[in-house]
Order: sequence, then structure tokens, then C-alpha cells
Amino acid sequence: MTMLLRFVVLAAALTGSVTHAAEVGDDSFRCIRDMTPVRGFYVDNLNGDVAATVAAANAEGGANYPAGSVVQLVPGEAMVKHDAGFSPATRDWEFFELNVSAQGTTIGKRGFADVVNRFGGNCFACHVKAEPRWDMVCEQGHGCDPIPLTATMTRAIQKTDPRCATVALTAEEQEALQTLQRAMAPKETDAAGG
Ligand code: HEC
Repeated sequence: MTMLLRFVVLAAALTGSVTHAAEVGDDSFRCIRDMTPVRGFYVDNLNGDVAATVAAANAEGGANYPAGSVVQLVPGEAMVKHDAGFSPATRDWEFFELNVSAQGTTIGKRGFADVVNRFGGNCFACHVKAEPRWDMVCEQGHGCDPIPLTATMTRAIQKTDPRCATVALTAEEQEALQTLQRAMAPKETDAAGG
């Protein structure tokens, strides 16, 4: 290869829209409510093309999400779409468990088919059950096993993302958070080792 050709190939590789795993880091995530809302969840695009991600999310009958897409329902979990062919088994999605605080985001766990959430569920095992046309996005009625969060609980969790400015919860949302906290609290029998 001539020097010139080599340069052109390298330049093309550098300017193409690529989202490699190594490039997705703590800073790829932000206050969930600063992302773009779609129905009950939020989307972003690390390659700067959030319109393409929103279009995929709104495509009637489903569509493949474009590379760079970030999808979140709650602050602590995310899916990020890599370039085509990056992880064929997961349709190029990488799954993340995030730790969020007023200081920002740190990635707790990340991976493809092996990430297990705080409640012992494998992200991929659930999301792969979505009908193929939905590109592993579960929402409601796409074929995934349900999660134990009502729409009100989800909204309350989104509104209390510690990275965002504080907003008031409705009485109904406060109630939903309390119900959730009671359900999540370790049982007294567990504390006693029983
Ligand atoms: C028990 C099955 C299950 C497990 C385990 C699970 N999810 Fe989900 N996930 C769902 C369902 C169902 C929804 C849709 C809920 C809704 O919209 O009411 C969802 C929603 C989401 C969404 C919003 C987009 C969508 O698919 O609707 C993201 C992003 C997400 N989950 C990521 C993760 C990550 C990351 C993990 C692991 C750390 C994980 N999930 C574990 C079932 C699961």
C-alpha cells in the first residue's frame, strides 16, 4: 500500500462513527432526565445522532437501534449499542449496571451475555426474549418476562436520580417509592440469618 492510501484508510477509520467498548465509560452516562424521553424510557446517542435513535424507538413494528444508542429505564441500568458485528450474540448491545450519586456515574458491571443485576437477574436472558423485531428492547408486550416495577414506580425512580436537579414527587409517586423500598428491604429473618 502506498503511504497516501494508507493515510486515507486510517483517516476513514478515525472519522467513521465508531463506538468501541473501550470508549464507553463513566462519562457516557448522565442525568437520566437530560436524555430524550420515549414513552416511559430515555434514549441518548454517543455518536451525536439521537434523532436516529428516537426514530428507531418510534418505528412502527420495530427497528434496529443505530450504533451509539444508549437506552435507560432507570438510572442504575443501561444498554449501549456498539457497531454492527461487535457482539453478534447480543445484537451488539452491551449491558451496564451503574452506580449513580450526586457526584456522577461509575460503571458497576458491564458486559454482553453475562451481566447480572442487583436482583439476581441476567440482563441478556430477559432482553433476548423480546421478539426479534424489537431489537432486545422489552418495554411492555414485546415478549420479555415482566419486572416488578409499575409505571408510577419507574417515574418516581427517574425523578429521584441523584445526578439531576431535585423535582417534587406527587403523593402517588412517593407512595410508590415507599412500596418499592418495603419490597426491597432485607427481611428481618434474613438479617437473623434465617
Ligand atoms: C426479569 C427480566 C429482566 C432483567 C433481569 C433485566 N431486564 Fe431490563 N427490562 C425488562 C423489562 C420487562 C423491561 C420493560 C419494563 C417496562 O417498560 O415496564 C426492561 C427495561 C429495560 C430498559 C429500557 C428499554 C426496554 O428494554 O424496555 C433497559 C435499558 C434495561 N431494561 C436494561 C437492563 C439491564 C442493563 C439489565 C441488567 C443489569 C436488565 N435490564 C435486566 C426485563 C428485564
